[in-house]
Amino acid sequence: MTFKDKTIVVAGAGGGMGKAVVETLLKENANVVGCDLNIASLEELEGVDRFLGIEGNLLEEEKVKSVFSNAKETFGGIHGLVNAAGIAQSSTPIEQVDLKEWYKLIDINLTMTFLTCREAASYMKEQGGGAIVNIGSVSVTRPRPGLQSYVASKGAVESFTKALALELSDNQINVNLLHPGPSDTNMLGQFAQKGADIEKMKDTVFKDSVPMGRLLEPQDIANSVKFLLSDEASMVTGSVFHVDGGRNI
Ligand SMILES: NC(=O)c1ccc[n+]([C@@H]2O[C@H](COP(=O)([O-])OP(=O)(O)OC[C@H]3O[C@@H](n4cnc5c(N)ncnc54)[C@H](O)[C@@H]3O)[C@@H](O)[C@H]2O)c1
Repeated sequence: MTFKDKTIVVAGAGGGMGKAVVETLLKENANVVGCDLNIASLEELEGVDRFLGIEGNLLEEEKVKSVFSNAKETFGGIHGLVNAAGIAQSSTPIEQVDLKEWYKLIDINLTMTFLTCREAASYMKEQGGGAIVNIGSVSVTRPRPGLQSYVASKGAVESFTKALALELSDNQINVNLLHPGPSDTNMLGQFAQKGADIEKMKDTVFKDSVPMGRLLEPQDIANSVKFLLSDEASMVTGSVFHVDGGRNI
């Protein structure tokens, strides 16, 4: 598996999974463009010549365009995109869900994925191929109570991924979806009801839901993302890849 001379854009690079993806790809000799609302967690990569960090809101069309043009200008092409940005929903009964919160989840989890994929597709078509990995959630397959809006946003990402995989198959662009199980990042606690004891929940409810008996680490996700971006996965497209220790079963 080699990523030498390949350039991968990672959306949500400052988050738990995104950071692990960035570090993993850099170890594999890729050029990496990491973007996020906040890239403070990537500070130690400043000065690494195969890394470009860009701070900004990826819901803004112009920002998305500038990330991709900057990536192409800096490294000469765009071979991969990983969509690891997103937000959680705190478990809430539907009658208490504010319309603004619904739209925010749909905008950030779904519309942002559309915007980055749209931009990536035009570069990858021109260049004759590429690979896109979107991040969903095992909750699409096994929902939890009170997460109806989050699950809807991620379910739509699954349908979008399959439709795009078919549309771009002639262009040799692989588009796949990875559904993580409960993972030990900042986001995990944000799924709990307001006021819940997060540390206790991690050790009980979340951990116990994983048949293999532990929470996922960001590195578990990054390892599979790396595979889905690689030449070894060149005939894998439109797939839904569960990385969840069996939580989906
Ligand atoms: N942690 C889990 O248990 C879990 C489980 C299933 C799925 N997921 C999914 O995995 C993905 C990664 O989650 P994570 O656990 O690393 O969470 P995280 O909160 O650590 O990272 C998410 C990142 O997205 C960034 N982001 C949010 N809105 C943005 C915007 N408008 N523009 C740019 N960046 C923005 C945030 O700043 C943050 O750094 C998400 O899509 C999440 O829904 C997480």
